[in-house]
This record gives sequence, structure tokens and C-alpha cells, in this order.
Amino acid sequence: MDEIKHILWDGKSLKLLDQRLLPKKEQYRECKNFEDVCRAIKNMTVRGAPAIGVVAAFALVMAARHILEKYSSSKAAFSENQFQHQLATAANLLRNTRPTAVNLTWAIERILKKSRACNKKTPEFIIKVLESEAESIFKEDIQINKKIGEWGSELIGDGFTILTHCNAGALATAGYGTALGVIRSAHYQGKKIKVFADETRPFLQGSRLTAWELQKEGIPVCVIVDSAAGYFINKGDIDCIIVGADRVAMNGDVANKIGTYSLAVLANENSIPFYVAVPLSTVDIQTRTGKEITIEERAPQEITHLEGIPLAPDGLSVRNPSFDITPARLITALITEHGIIYRPEEKKIKELLSKRGNTF
Ligand code: MRU
Repeated sequence: MDEIKHILWDGKSLKLLDQRLLPKKEQYRECKNFEDVCRAIKNMTVRGAPAIGVVAAFALVMAARHILEKYSSSKAAFSENQFQHQLATAANLLRNTRPTAVNLTWAIERILKKSRACNKKTPEFIIKVLESEAESIFKEDIQINKKIGEWGSELIGDGFTILTHCNAGALATAGYGTALGVIRSAHYQGKKIKVFADETRPFLQGSRLTAWELQKEGIPVCVIVDSAAGYFINKGDIDCIIVGADRVAMNGDVANKIGTYSLAVLANENSIPFYVAVPLSTVDIQTRTGKEITIEERAPQEITHLEGIPLAPDGLSVRNPSFDITPARLITALITEHGIIYRPEEKKIKELLSKRGNTF
């Protein structure tokens, strides 16, 4: 197995495999500063909720270094309060780059908490602490995905055909993937599985990214247009659906790539399981139900143009919500690093969160 390394940190800058160019080109884009990372998140050079969280953590390390370098070059005395204030301002800019993915806020809060705990320390010490926290977020994410894979693979029978939507793979995380992590684990256990990947309009994460990842691994994959999912499910060709998530509300409602809700309805109508694979960092304890989740709307050009070529007449009214909400009642189970939650609801989610130390 060739591990996909799409986020590279060398202690000063980040190199990101440009996901806009895959599968045509495998090209890394260097982010030399905080602003470069914000742009890379906004323009989808890097995407997928956990991956965004990881790069956001490194972006804050860069912001902190820049703030501290300004002190040393201006010879002004280092003010801890001002430093914390400037870092919090950078964090707010970062938070708004992609509003639905809660892992972004989660990673930002982890870095800010470490920074606040560094009182009366030298700037050099603070940078070291923040960098080591960002590296932990990165490494932990891969381990968490492997655990999700272990739990989830129990649900996958030998010979299964699995439908997935968007890309919840190595490219959407620090590595290994959530939904694709489950698929990888089942494959490594020797189960003969097949994957149907929805192409996932308009950014084509399914046909460009999921298909690329699975093909590299030698996992059989077949790409279909999003609207063909119902046809194959109704024909009995699909054994289960597994997707990732950008945010899970406390009642179990899930925000994920636009089209996920339609798949959950199809799964229920045709009595096949609908699974959502998520790290617990995707559960937002501040959000009670899916209704409270902000849905990002992206530029109309993603729909009306393909590589600059118009696909629709000029001057059209276009809506491009990037995510939708799947109500908990349509979800067979959430697959997390701490176990599987069947028929998710607030009580069960709280029980699992308390295993990682949350108190309610
Ligand atoms: O717009 P994207 O490509 O960032 O959307 C990604 C998804 O919807 C994924 O399913 C989700 O982030 C989970 S990734 C493990």
C-alpha cells in the first residue's frame, strides 16, 4: 500500500497536494504563510473536514510565528496580551474560510487553548508548543481513522458492494480516511468488496478523488453519475452506503456533501443500511440539531463552468449549497473511533463523548 501524503509540513511552510488538479496532475502547492493557507482552504486546494482542521492548526502556527517575528524586528517589548489578541483575530479569519466543517473550529480551539496556557513563556517556547500541538492533531487523525476503519469493517460483509459519496478518504483527512478508511480496512482484511463512487457534482470529489485513491489501492471502483444511485440501489446492486460528515449535531443529524440526504432517503426506501463514519471531533457539542448548522453556498461558476468552458447560458440564477442535512432518523449508525452508535440520538452520543472526557 502506497500511503497518500497530501499534507507536508517542514517546520516553516506547508506543501499541499493540489486537489483541484487531481487526477490529471499530482502537484504540490506551497503555502508560505497564514494567508496562503486561508486561500488554499477557500479555493479547495485542500478540502474535507478533518484535513481542513489539520492545515488550519499549522496555519495558526505560521500566524503565531509571524506575530512574534514582528516583535523581534520592531524591538518592541513582547506583550502576551497583544499576542493572544492577534492570534485570536487570525483564528477568526480562518474559521470563516469554510463555515460548515466543524473540525476547523475544533482544531483552532485546540491551538488557541495551548497558546493561552503558555503564560509568561518566551516566544520561541510558545511556537514550539503550538507546532507540537498541530503535529499531534495531524498524527492523531490518522490513528483515529484507523480505529474508525476497524470498527466499521465489522459491518462490511465479504462480497459487499458499497456506495459512497464525495471523498471521505485520505485526501479529506490527515490520511487513511473515514468512510474510505472503513473500506480500506475491509479490503486489507481480505474481503472482496466493490465500491460505487458517485461523481459528486459540482466539484467531482467522487470521480476525481475517491476513484483516484481507490484505484491506487487496487480496490475495485465504478463511477456513476449522482442521479444513477437510485437506479442501482433499487436494482439491489448496493449492500450499504457509507459517507463521511462535516458536522454532527448532538441529536445525530448530519451535515455532509450535497446529495447525502437524497442517498439516505433512498437507503431507507430500499431497506439498505446508511452509515456515517466520523471522528468524534466532527460532533459539535454546541449544536443541538441539524437546523442550526450553517450551510456553505459556493460560487455559481462551479456549476455553470467546467475549466472555464460554459455549461449553461449566461445570466442564469444558480444556487450552489455545498452540503445538506440528513436527519438522524435516516441514519443506521455512526461509526466513530470509540465505537458504533446505532440509531444515533442525543443520549447515545453523550455517552460516547464522555468516553473521551466530555462532561454534560
Ligand atoms: O466540500 P468538501 O469536499 O470539503 O466536502 C467534503 C465532504 O463532504 C466530506 O464527506 C466530509 O468533509 C468528510 S471527510 C472525512
